[in-house]
Amino acid sequence: MLRIRGLLLDYEAPECLRGVEKLPNLGWVLESDGRNVRQAAYQWQLSETEDFSSPLHDSGRVESDESAHVPVPETALHACRKYFIRARVWTEQEESDWAQGSFLTGMTNGPWQAKFITAEGENDWINSKGTYLRKTWRIEKPVKEAYVCATALGLYHLYLNGEKVNEEQFLPGWTSYHDHLCYQIWDVTPFLHPDENVLGAHVGAGWYKGMMGFVHERCAYGDRTAFMAQLIIRYQDGTEETVVTDESWLGCASPVTFSEIYDGERYDARLEQTGWNAPGFAPQMGGTRKEQPAAPLLDRLKESYTEDEKKAQRRFAQEYRPADTLWRPAQRVDFPLKALSPQASGRPAVEMALPVREILKTPKGETVLDFGQNLTGHVRFTLRGKAGALAHIRCFETLDAAGNAYFDNLRGALAEIRYICRDDQTVTYDEQFSFQGFRYALIQEWPEEIKKENFCACVIHSQMKETGHFVCSNPLLNQLENNIEWSLRGNFLDIPTDCPQRDERMGWTGDAQIFCRTASFLRNTYAFYRKWLRDVALDQQKTGGGVPHMVPNQLQYFPATQDWLLSQGIHSAAAWADVAVILPWTLYLTYGDIRVLRDQFDSMKAWIDFMRDHAKDYIWNYKLQFGDWVALDAADGSYWGATPNDLTCTAYFAYSTGLFVKICRVLEMEVLAREYEALYSQIADKFQRTFLDDNGVMAVQTQTAHIVALYFHLVPEKGIPGTVEGLKKLLQKENGHLVTGFVGTPYFCHALSQNGCKKEAYDLLLKEDFPSWLYQVKAGATTIWEHWDGLKPDGTMWSPDMNSFNHYAYGAIGEWLYRAAAGLEIDEAQPGYRHAVIAPLTGGDLSWAQGEYDSVYGPVSSHWTRENGKITLTVRVPANASASIILEQGAENPESELRFTRNSQGQWQAETGSGTWTVTYLLNE
Ligand code: BGC
Repeated sequence: MLRIRGLLLDYEAPECLRGVEKLPNLGWVLESDGRNVRQAAYQWQLSETEDFSSPLHDSGRVESDESAHVPVPETALHACRKYFIRARVWTEQEESDWAQGSFLTGMTNGPWQAKFITAEGENDWINSKGTYLRKTWRIEKPVKEAYVCATALGLYHLYLNGEKVNEEQFLPGWTSYHDHLCYQIWDVTPFLHPDENVLGAHVGAGWYKGMMGFVHERCAYGDRTAFMAQLIIRYQDGTEETVVTDESWLGCASPVTFSEIYDGERYDARLEQTGWNAPGFAPQMGGTRKEQPAAPLLDRLKESYTEDEKKAQRRFAQEYRPADTLWRPAQRVDFPLKALSPQASGRPAVEMALPVREILKTPKGETVLDFGQNLTGHVRFTLRGKAGALAHIRCFETLDAAGNAYFDNLRGALAEIRYICRDDQTVTYDEQFSFQGFRYALIQEWPEEIKKENFCACVIHSQMKETGHFVCSNPLLNQLENNIEWSLRGNFLDIPTDCPQRDERMGWTGDAQIFCRTASFLRNTYAFYRKWLRDVALDQQKTGGGVPHMVPNQLQYFPATQDWLLSQGIHSAAAWADVAVILPWTLYLTYGDIRVLRDQFDSMKAWIDFMRDHAKDYIWNYKLQFGDWVALDAADGSYWGATPNDLTCTAYFAYSTGLFVKICRVLEMEVLAREYEALYSQIADKFQRTFLDDNGVMAVQTQTAHIVALYFHLVPEKGIPGTVEGLKKLLQKENGHLVTGFVGTPYFCHALSQNGCKKEAYDLLLKEDFPSWLYQVKAGATTIWEHWDGLKPDGTMWSPDMNSFNHYAYGAIGEWLYRAAAGLEIDEAQPGYRHAVIAPLTGGDLSWAQGEYDSVYGPVSSHWTRENGKITLTVRVPANASASIILEQGAENPESELRFTRNSQGQWQAETGSGTWTVTYLLNE
């Protein structure tokens, strides 16, 4: 039977989209128990009513096999409205039923009447307190529907009539605020009631105003938090009313006396005002607060403080000690509304809550909660304490060698929660505006007996559908895969971060670049990365096209001179800045979406031009480079691996330029493609003349030099055998271990397996002693470590200075598990798995392995078993897609319903349409 499993709007279920401003990309996933199913025609309709009695658009029957990128016309959509969409398809033999979904629009053409308002005064820049804002109004007639759009400068929680509207966390996210500020929309019809209604917001400092970056600066984007909301009420009589933020709102300090991303939160429940966000509450009004006239923050710092004071003030927010909790009219804050953009999906939320696995007593006598998993989020606790009693916990990642709580690797981040009790009642607290990266929580002070059941760890990250699974017969490898997943969870909190625990948690571009392909197997990353790529383009150097080391780039607001590292350069490092090209290309491959290439085109081109303009005779290098960051072949105590920057930089210059040529061709820009193809040839030629010997063999004796040259195809045919031999020798020299960093590690196994060294790739992957992926697993890791020697075999740590235990970069090996071990490859000519290339590599001690990816056409998978040299491979190809199945080198006697013939490489290959297919073969190894 033919059916549509589900519609996809921008590659997600329509219901995920709340707040679109124009008609998203349309597609659907076909399902059929038949084989070789190909769509022959489709029809789709758009409607304002669920019964589609008078559709706004009807495509009619369109003869086409397009199912993932169906053309949609420019359609004017009304603001804040639910739309219905449905589609049906035909094959030559069958017809499906209609599949239907709905989505919500945002402020399409609707003008914002709302203003940004704040409950903070001019002197509140010095603190990071929470504030409440509220507005009451009356509803006199029956309501048909109501929607609220809201955002903040800072972070916010939204309430309507005492009920929490947002289930999501960390809204409105972290973007390049002055040019790109997300707003969210909710259907709030069920929250409204007759008579008095109250809209309320709780606002905190967050990334906007709090301290961010290891340069320890605050107030990067502004020195007062603010909130904005527009509530649209449609009545049953056809009339409409809006309730908007303006000076008629009232504001007040909240019980959050301090909240910063790095340092955690302080909450004084004695300052609570029960019912502040519900009808029937009578706010106690206060007169105008006495304010000191204030200059913009940095100037003021310059003028009124001594040097030492300046440092201290800037670095640390003061805890707010309110003189009163009186309400005062909110003040207006100017902010450019053109920056507003909907966050229709992918908002961060609590995904799950983990119980305490064990309560530990450490040798020092500390009481520590162990949640059994390194994660990102907060500790939710339930407690009862007398008025003024303190509950105080500190979160951390790992125990030290002696088994005591270890905080040193958090560096400047306090990561603590202090809760002051109010009145001997049992309460449950969830942190409001901060998060921690932790497995353990040290209980510093607790007002009552510590019981397991009073705590849990809430896991918070951006909502993204799971799309990929890899599982095999080796439990250690399965744990590695699990650790990669957890590092993904931990570092996808609104932006792709390096780590979630210490005083960084920033959008380091290199980490994102390295991990994006792996991430895009595991999760539907489309909305998440599209949003972030916009900030990549916005934060790019306005002239010249350099790409910042981190995005959002809050450093642009501060002089970088105070940090020795950043004073050398805050943008344009090879492998980091290349995210501007590699990430859009990865999304194009994964989803087949050409719009991402169009939208990022200027950004990509500017980056390539930047490299071209700063290269000297095609050798590219520029100011601060991270090189093969934290490689083990670094000199003692250094972060920089042994591979010369000229080499890593020029290799990436070539690689990104090569991708850009392909991108120009996809966009049918042939003239430009030729121009950059010529540039590519020059770079590749220079690379070869500089770093390869006369035989075309890599001359620089590091693993990473060999890996990038091979993987980026910078070695001429004649030099490949010698370069591969060279890499094998360098491996042997390390007794089969890697000593690579951020640049070499992701491609190591690929460079081997793509060059006839499948065995060496598996050996490397499955190494269990130091340094290796499985060494970490055996050492008890539950996430991926930043350093191979994060925890050394003797139990010591490499350094407290930069030692994250939740850094996904080396998790990029996940890509090899999917692309090579399971063999799920994308055909660049028909991306999005429209045509898959399924070429699994059996090996190591694995007796079976299975990889599955839920593509925009449906699940594509491979499963192989190996017994006495006989392999059974079962592949699944989604409906309306096709695949080439290529058997590994050494395969003999394929037996299958499919017709296998030798391809030009001498490998057995068969072509197939959709369905589940099996082939058995013998392996000559
Ligand atoms: C981060 C990295 C980042 C690097 C830049 C570190 O502090 O944690 O992951 O890419 O700096 O070299």
